[in-house]
Amino acid sequence: MAAEKGAGEHTWYEGGLAHVWLPYAQMKTARPPLPVVRTHGCRILLDDGRELIDGIASWWTACHGYNHPHIRQAVERQVASMPHVMFGGLVHEQALTLARRLAELMPGDLTRVFFSDSGSVAVEVAMKMAVQFWLNQGMRGRKTFVAFRHGYHGDTTGAMAVGDPDGGMHALFHGLLPEHYVVDLPQDEESSAAFSHLLERHSGELAGIIVEPLVQGAGGMRFHDASVLRLLRQAADRYQLLLIFDEIFTGFGRTGSLFACEEASVVPDIMCLSKALTGGTLPLAATIANERVFDAFWSDDPAHALMHGPTYMANALACAAANASLDLFEWEPRLQQVANIARGLERGLARCRELPRVKDVRVKGAIGVVELDRIDDLDGLRARFVEEGVFIRPFGSIVYLTPAFAIGDDELGKLTRTIGKVLHSL
Ligand SMILES: Cc1ncc(COP(=O)(O)O)c(C=O)c1O
Repeated sequence: MAAEKGAGEHTWYEGGLAHVWLPYAQMKTARPPLPVVRTHGCRILLDDGRELIDGIASWWTACHGYNHPHIRQAVERQVASMPHVMFGGLVHEQALTLARRLAELMPGDLTRVFFSDSGSVAVEVAMKMAVQFWLNQGMRGRKTFVAFRHGYHGDTTGAMAVGDPDGGMHALFHGLLPEHYVVDLPQDEESSAAFSHLLERHSGELAGIIVEPLVQGAGGMRFHDASVLRLLRQAADRYQLLLIFDEIFTGFGRTGSLFACEEASVVPDIMCLSKALTGGTLPLAATIANERVFDAFWSDDPAHALMHGPTYMANALACAAANASLDLFEWEPRLQQVANIARGLERGLARCRELPRVKDVRVKGAIGVVELDRIDDLDGLRARFVEEGVFIRPFGSIVYLTPAFAIGDDELGKLTRTIGKVLHSL
């Protein structure tokens, strides 16, 4: 990796780049990463003075835009009084307030919040809870999950194992991970029949079903109907399986309702949240269980306890940021903004439908997707967007937008126009 012109003027860049291992990158051939010196609103400032309009909101986290003063002030206050204290044997106001607020926001009786520090770990915790739910009731055989093709739940071992084993980014590990049933979402007669058949044959060995509700994100930004979630709930009830919704991407308004499950009026047994939980400022995740799940751990037997406790769980700075982010959801018309963005995306991306390489254009809430037949040079396409003054990070065969909810109409217009212009020139 050679440093780009401009970046090399900083010793931190040149000196550090040789020692850092970047995500999802072939380090030998990847283009040098862009040095960022500041963020504000929906803008990313590069060290050479260029300002990019951000179409991705830092992997879908920065829902209020960057550097929101309300979150910054909350974190500043917290850092002055107590940046962190271990959560074993100790608790603090920010974490307990956040747990109560999340429980109040959740549908149904999802009332017990287990904090961790990343989405992948939140999924690991959910899977561990589900397996132990059965173990605590004397059932050792129920340890396998049903998951779905095109699904993505994170990069840790357990989470990888419930991702798409073939099309997903972890295909290299096929055969090496714990085995689960990864099947088509029951969306039509054939897939629904196959799904029912699977449950009929294997329910005795199943701990639960895990799904990204409404939108499968990193597996290709694929949308499914709310009726699929109702079917999953019915199947889980019928075969007594725990239903886990991974709302790490969809949670906090991204699909148009505060949580995707609301659109389907379906309540899972366990919900995973992260990403926009702190408004894109600090790492934090939550695995939220219903009373039934929690009750299976409530015992005089110490062996029935959930033996999990990440060192930085419920970090006070992150919880303060999350509480401030929830304030913004209360004070600002975020869901209305998402509805406006959806209209802007529909309008702005419509012209892409006419382009020869485009297979599909779809919009759900503040998610806009242009799917191509294929993308030959992902790095080249990403660089083209930067040349045009926007930060958009296509993957697989899709170009997508997941902007901050506070994005201006002009900024959104620039993002959609640029996608049209760049794809037109392919
Ligand atoms: C649906 C879903 N689950 C889990 C994860 C993993 O989260 P993290 O990257 O914080 O570990 C992601 C990340 O993209 C995700 O989109």
